[in-house]
Amino acid sequence: MIGLGTWRAFDVDLSADVRRQLEEVLSQFVKLGGRVIDSSPMYGRAEEVIGQLTSALGIGDKVFLATKVWTEGKQSGIRSMERSMSLLRTKRIDLIQVHNLVDVNTQLATLQEWKQQGRIRYTGITHYESGALGEIEKLMRSQKFDFLQINYSLMEPQAEQSILPLAQERGVAVIANRPFGAGNLFNKVRSKPLPDWAAEFDCRSWAQFFLKWIVANPAITCAIPATDKLRHLEDNMQGGIGRLPDAKLRRRMAEIVSSL
Ligand SMILES: NC(=O)c1ccc[n+]([C@@H]2O[C@H](COP(=O)([O-])OP(=O)(O)OC[C@H]3O[C@@H](n4cnc5c(N)ncnc54)[C@H](OP(=O)(O)O)[C@@H]3O)[C@@H](O)[C@H]2O)c1
Repeated sequence: MIGLGTWRAFDVDLSADVRRQLEEVLSQFVKLGGRVIDSSPMYGRAEEVIGQLTSALGIGDKVFLATKVWTEGKQSGIRSMERSMSLLRTKRIDLIQVHNLVDVNTQLATLQEWKQQGRIRYTGITHYESGALGEIEKLMRSQKFDFLQINYSLMEPQAEQSILPLAQERGVAVIANRPFGAGNLFNKVRSKPLPDWAAEFDCRSWAQFFLKWIVANPAITCAIPATDKLRHLEDNMQGGIGRLPDAKLRRRMAEIVSSL
């Protein structure tokens, strides 16, 4: 239930030091049970870096590769997805999502074709702003896709009003992006002690607090925090281990964060 985002963190030049650091992050991710890696052609060198490192580490068949298509027009979409396959060094991508709903109907039609041909396993759509929830709801009622990726965190909980229940009803898997509000949640709790009662759900850090709140929602399939740091990765992976907060504790968690 804890995956890995690649925006910024993997958009890097692979100098020897950076390469060593990211290889450690990726191999520990897999060792600790991580599977979902989320990228996009919008993230600069991230797809290329993930392709190079997963192939060098021999973990390509262990991870669930999710990327996106972010362009207008059918042919341009196909070219983009073929490039993603080549950069990710794979013949089959697990999930391709229409990034930020760009030309969503055209791209979803191609994704369905690719799924039938076995070039991808799953289709999806993404957005990162609560302002898009209305359009997403319409798409969920009119289109067929397997995954929805949306912003969902203690800072941006709006998706739980109607979109997450609808996803559950329709059997759509949900990936929570921006689980730390792009890092802003840490600014809120800086120098604040973790409440004692966090121990009731095996939580030992604010990162685990934020992640456990997300993945305890039964509509959520996984959360994808981004990091290029081994100690943060190890911290985040604990967010998917041990007990999870129940509904009452989740309300208490939301109250404490909104009071800060
Ligand atoms: N439209 C879309 O499809 C869309 C939009 C937004 C995001 N996404 C996806 O969702 C992923 C996650 O979102 P995001 O990258 O915007 O933000 P995020 O995961 O909410 O936050 C990332 C920030 O948190 C920090 N961090 C990570 N683990 C930490 C820890 N244990 N302790 C302290 N700080 C920690 C990172 O810094 P360090 O690097 O220093 O650890 C980074 O600054 C993206 O990478 C991308 O894959 C998709």
